[in-house]
Amino acid sequence: MSRKRVAVLISGRGSNMAALIDAAKDRNFPAEIALVLSNRPDAGGLATANAAGIATAVVDHTQFGKDRAAFECALQAVLVEHRIDIVCLAGFMRLLTADFVKQWPEQLINIHPALLPAFKGLDTHRRALDAKATIHGATVHFVVAEMDAGPIIAQGAVAVRADDSESTLGQRVLAVEHRLYPLALKLVAEGRVSVVDGRCLIDGVPVPDAASLVPSA
Ligand code: GRF
Repeated sequence: MSRKRVAVLISGRGSNMAALIDAAKDRNFPAEIALVLSNRPDAGGLATANAAGIATAVVDHTQFGKDRAAFECALQAVLVEHRIDIVCLAGFMRLLTADFVKQWPEQLINIHPALLPAFKGLDTHRRALDAKATIHGATVHFVVAEMDAGPIIAQGAVAVRADDSESTLGQRVLAVEHRLYPLALKLVAEGRVSVVDGRCLIDGVPVPDAASLVPSA
């Protein structure tokens, strides 16, 4: 089977992007990273992608003012030009509209640094600490128009320690993210993920049994 062509959309440092690039270096991985696309010309991840020999593109949202439709139209044109099959959001800090999302049914995925549906949005590590959560983690999910709300493909958990700071907790979650995202992309690229009633099944098995990483520390 030919490898799926993946675009990784970033806005910043791109450590999850780098984890996906690393995973895809294995010829047996079912996807290749064909494009890294940033909405910010200064995203650090662009240099990492260039150094790895991966095509990069910038669609600078500030050039489109408030016209989100025009921004998304430009994004879509670049994705189509590069014959992309699957889009991975990895620290991409723009909300995408329903019109964009519907062009990528079950082919648009995101990683979020919390165990959804808990802690949608920003500052997840600080909010997990404030809430005295004992288990925290990361989620890979299909993107729907509502933010951080789509069907969950895979989750990875970390134990929250009594002496954790936002930074120490965030580092352990990030390490989980770097394992989780390649795992989830592999499952999607192999066509093993289906969505039934808003829940993902992997090889027909519900996600908690099929794709979760438990606390390792
Ligand atoms: C990650 O924590 C990701 O879960 C969130 O934004 C952060 C991006 O980090 N959506 P990086 O750019 O992948 O290093």
